[in-house]
Amino acid sequence: MLGATPSMNKDFLRSMGFDITLGGRAIKFLSALLRTERINPSRAILYQYADQSISDLANIIDPFDTIYRIVFRLTVNTIGASSISANSDVCDALVNIFHELDKSGTPATILFPWFPWWERMRRFYLMKHFHDITTAAVDDRRKSSRDDDDPLQYLLDQRLSSLEITQFILAALFAGIANTGVVAAYFLCDLATHPQYLERVRTELHDFVSRFNTDESLPFSARLRSITVEDWIRSDSLPLTNRCLKETLRLRIATPFQRLNDSGKDIDIAGTPVPHGTILTFHSSFMHHNEDFYTKPLVWDPERFNRERAEDKRRPMAFVGWGLGKHQCLGQKLAKFEIFLITALTVFSYDIETVDENGTLMLEMPPVQLNDAVVSPPKRAVHLKLSVR
Ligand code: HEM
Repeated sequence: MLGATPSMNKDFLRSMGFDITLGGRAIKFLSALLRTERINPSRAILYQYADQSISDLANIIDPFDTIYRIVFRLTVNTIGASSISANSDVCDALVNIFHELDKSGTPATILFPWFPWWERMRRFYLMKHFHDITTAAVDDRRKSSRDDDDPLQYLLDQRLSSLEITQFILAALFAGIANTGVVAAYFLCDLATHPQYLERVRTELHDFVSRFNTDESLPFSARLRSITVEDWIRSDSLPLTNRCLKETLRLRIATPFQRLNDSGKDIDIAGTPVPHGTILTFHSSFMHHNEDFYTKPLVWDPERFNRERAEDKRRPMAFVGWGLGKHQCLGQKLAKFEIFLITALTVFSYDIETVDENGTLMLEMPPVQLNDAVVSPPKRAVHLKLSVR
């Protein structure tokens, strides 16, 4: 995942004709696109894409690929272009570029960015391919003079060039999908390895949907129609499902957080001098897997977050799954909405079990990985066996 940051070497990209100058404006655009009032009007299409993809699933799937692709399509519709998300083949091509980009960063390319490594040239080629796809969508929109109210139109209205739009979409998708795609897959696996929770979550989601529409003869996406994004993520809507997701985040997000002192001066943090140019790093595991806060921290146990136990309240900052402070996650609402939607559709349609690559039942997930730089699929393959209900 060392390739995850798309603009890691701006000088190199500039020298190849890619001038990346979006800076802090990108965060402003992303915040605007992630407002639930903006996502709500397109929820019918998100329900339809998710429903279609999940009803097409068969037998044994690799959730870290299949579910990732579903998250990708929903996210492209929300922060990219509706014409791209409408075409599942184009979405798949973009996912493949993402996977390749991911592999194209190595410790060597980061330590010696000026060297024309093969990986770096390949990275440029992949970004150019991504750019060609987004530019085609931009050109098509400009020619057709359609006035779709989608993220692409929003970016065009902000007077961004095709290149700036590519850079924005690529960066926003990296921020949005790398985590959500993997966490959504882990969440289903954690439920599958805890059948008693799976059943309770299924019931809670079923009751939730029935509060809005009781007609079980309708296709599922039709029953969801009146449920807004806010309804899904309201804290009292799905208390158990929320606790379960929080537990998956606590257990599986084992990554370092980093900050660079780029302030131009030396600073002091709680008595420790931090010279300009220093990178500070802090591993989520110091909190999430710490026995001082969490009982049996390596066990998946959502009830640790119930009102009586409230283990995450034992110390400030005991839970950092969405980050903290000024730079906490901008996409938390979208991520929860996507994960709950995908989970509901999957557990209503199928009984799920975790199996290995040979189809042999796995009763528990492989141990948590502490050495990854970002949230990653397990090293040992885990698949989901789906049986139609
Ligand atoms: C399960 C899914 C997700 C998880 C677990 C997650 C987690 C996090 C965490 C821990 C941080 C803080 C990082 C730090 O302090 O260094 C963060 C920041 C961020 N996340 Fe997420 N995230 C998820 C989904 C998303 C989505 C869907 C988007 C957007 C589409 C998004 C956009 C961002 C952005 C832009 C930031 C940086 C905010 C800033 O620097 O001010 N995330 N996320």
